[in-house]
Amino acid sequence: MHKYSLDTMPTGQDGLERAARFLRKLYGELEQPEELALRLDQLNQIGSYAPTAKELEGAARMAWRNANRCIGRIYWKSLKLKDCRDLRQPEAIFEALTDHIRTSTSGGNIRPLISVFSPEVIIWNEQLIGYAGYRQADGTILGDPANLAFTDLCLRLGWRGEGTRFDVLPLVIQVNGEDPVCFDWPADAVLEVPIRHPDYPRLRELELKWYALPAISSMSLDFGGLSYPTAPFSGWYMGTEIGARDLGDAHRYNQLPRVAEIMGLDTSHPRTLWKDQAMVALNQAVLFSFERAGVKILDHHTASDLFETFEEVEDRQGRAVQADWNWIVPPVSGSATGVFHREYTNEVRTPNFFYRDRSPWQGAGHRTEFPRGAGLSCPYHRKSDADSWCREPR
Ligand code: ARG
Repeated sequence: MHKYSLDTMPTGQDGLERAARFLRKLYGELEQPEELALRLDQLNQIGSYAPTAKELEGAARMAWRNANRCIGRIYWKSLKLKDCRDLRQPEAIFEALTDHIRTSTSGGNIRPLISVFSPEVIIWNEQLIGYAGYRQADGTILGDPANLAFTDLCLRLGWRGEGTRFDVLPLVIQVNGEDPVCFDWPADAVLEVPIRHPDYPRLRELELKWYALPAISSMSLDFGGLSYPTAPFSGWYMGTEIGARDLGDAHRYNQLPRVAEIMGLDTSHPRTLWKDQAMVALNQAVLFSFERAGVKILDHHTASDLFETFEEVEDRQGRAVQADWNWIVPPVSGSATGVFHREYTNEVRTPNFFYRDRSPWQGAGHRTEFPRGAGLSCPYHRKSDADSWCREPR
């Protein structure tokens, strides 16, 4: 049965053509010509396009397949959809997303999942799960500097964290331009992994941890002339995202100097390569800890091999893989991975995921002055590659 939901959008001639093109592509790949004929008929009769859940899931899978900056795309067909387009109540949306993170985390056996909401629903977070960053009185930052502005916003909305380096941020939901609402996740819904090193027991003194589920909530799902601005998706981590970038970057948790100290490295000169040694140790620790906790994670060598397999599989389907080399090559040991030695064309195809080009509270139809007179700075316009992952030019 086809579901004609509230998100039917007036499409115009251009929109109808785009929708038809998408339907032809999807049902062509699925080899379902009868269903295609039926859907094209309906499209022409109704004069606007309302995707079915099946089409939405197909579009999301193709969007992942087309995400030029993602190394993990071989798994695109395993992505599952939660169709949340009928939800309008913040409480119900929060409940659906709590279910999303529980289902996708799946006790560590992570399953790729996307939840698609009505365009009236906006999530202000960049990721569903993230750690707060607080500017302290002495100017230093406690927690994740990448989330400084968003944390500030949450504080202005009345949220209070415990004040640790790893306070899980609340979910901020806005419906229909109303005042945004903050929700704290139930503690048992957010799986976290303490970071240990098999050979450097003293690493535990750093009291590091990270969350199991990366869930991007700052990208729209675009296809067939439609754009779903709220379509958070989640999967598993590649170790270097945490070990090299989140914990290693100087403008993030900046842990290399402390790891080096624990390892007893000579940090007197860059040429001792203490940063490189600490970098490898920290990445070993991340992979070891996730494995020990039973949480799915991929090392960058395996990820690179799988990406090359993905290229072969796609090639056999007659599809030329597009990729952004700068993003595909891991930040650690680049030339030791196969992808380093390959060349890619980087054309942007749709369906795809696109970063929203405005912060949620500046978007059309939403209040720009919230919170009133607070002179809010925009966390989405800071130049940070912290959680950039599949950012695409528009
Ligand atoms: N790089 C981001 C982070 O460190 C996560 C981006 C999505 N990654 C993924 N494996 N699905 O939090």
